[in-house]
Amino acid sequence: MVSKKSISDELKTSQELMKALSLNVDQSDDGREIKKFNEVVGFCDQVIRIIETYPQNKEIVFLDCSCGKSYLSFALNYIISKRFTKETFFYGVDTNRILVETCYRIRDNLGFKNMQFICARVIDVFPEKPIDMIIALHACDTATDETIAKGIKLGAKYIIVVPCCENQIRNRLKSGHPLVDLTDFGLLRYRFADILTEALRAQFLMGAGYYVKLIEMISPKFTPKNLMIMARKKKSKKYNMNSYKKLDEMFNTDFVLKRYFHDHDFVWNNYSGVENS
Ligand SMILES: C[S@@+](CC[C@H](N)C(=O)[O-])C[C@H]1O[C@@H](n2cnc3c(N)ncnc32)[C@H](O)[C@@H]1O
Repeated sequence: MVSKKSISDELKTSQELMKALSLNVDQSDDGREIKKFNEVVGFCDQVIRIIETYPQNKEIVFLDCSCGKSYLSFALNYIISKRFTKETFFYGVDTNRILVETCYRIRDNLGFKNMQFICARVIDVFPEKPIDMIIALHACDTATDETIAKGIKLGAKYIIVVPCCENQIRNRLKSGHPLVDLTDFGLLRYRFADILTEALRAQFLMGAGYYVKLIEMISPKFTPKNLMIMARKKKSKKYNMNSYKKLDEMFNTDFVLKRYFHDHDFVWNNYSGVENS
């Protein structure tokens, strides 16, 4: 039975894993370690619930975008291998070469052969294997949008992101939209920009043919950045960007996500969902 508590206990009992990741959560006074551990547990919880519904004999391929030290992928790899007999493969991508080298060292220490790390921008990565699940935990700023765009282009069955900072549209909210009386106040503009950004991302995904839900993956007492966007690809290929466009135009956001696509991709009726750039 999946629960955050059981995942947390299972990870903590693997001293080898926790040591390799330098996560000393029970002895540590370092709030960042404990915060990261709880974020990873919350993310794993949602992914494991999906994995339980996967066909037994199919390899599940993950692409962890802006993976950093890949806490999430190492933890998922460990938990899935303990709980299921399913084959998995993990790609991690990050622009920081030192972190990519660290990931390879951790992988070799743990003997996880089913992992490969790539030093690149998310939008520029072209994995060899077809991707089932794109995941991103706190990919900085527009790296979350690169992740969503990459997932759509690769036709990933699941796109699951927990965004980090949202900087792109905050300054665009100062004038020229219907809620200007609300966003006159700096603090409210800041908070509203976060909400609008997540709404644009969610509407874009829906327009591109995904079912979308937004949840809090862990309690806000662990981190305020706890909003998870979970998108599952629909079987039907009926796409409709109208809601996204309406929101984008209402607030004149010129949102970054659409820049990763060609104009002709927005004739969504014939968008194939396959990488084409
Ligand atoms: C806040 S850290 C999160 C790392 C990791 N996901 C975690 O939860 O520990 C963000 C990471 O994104 C990487 N990054 C930023 N922009 C990127 C991009 N466009 N493509 C790939 N990686 C990127 C940074 O190098 C950094 O490691």
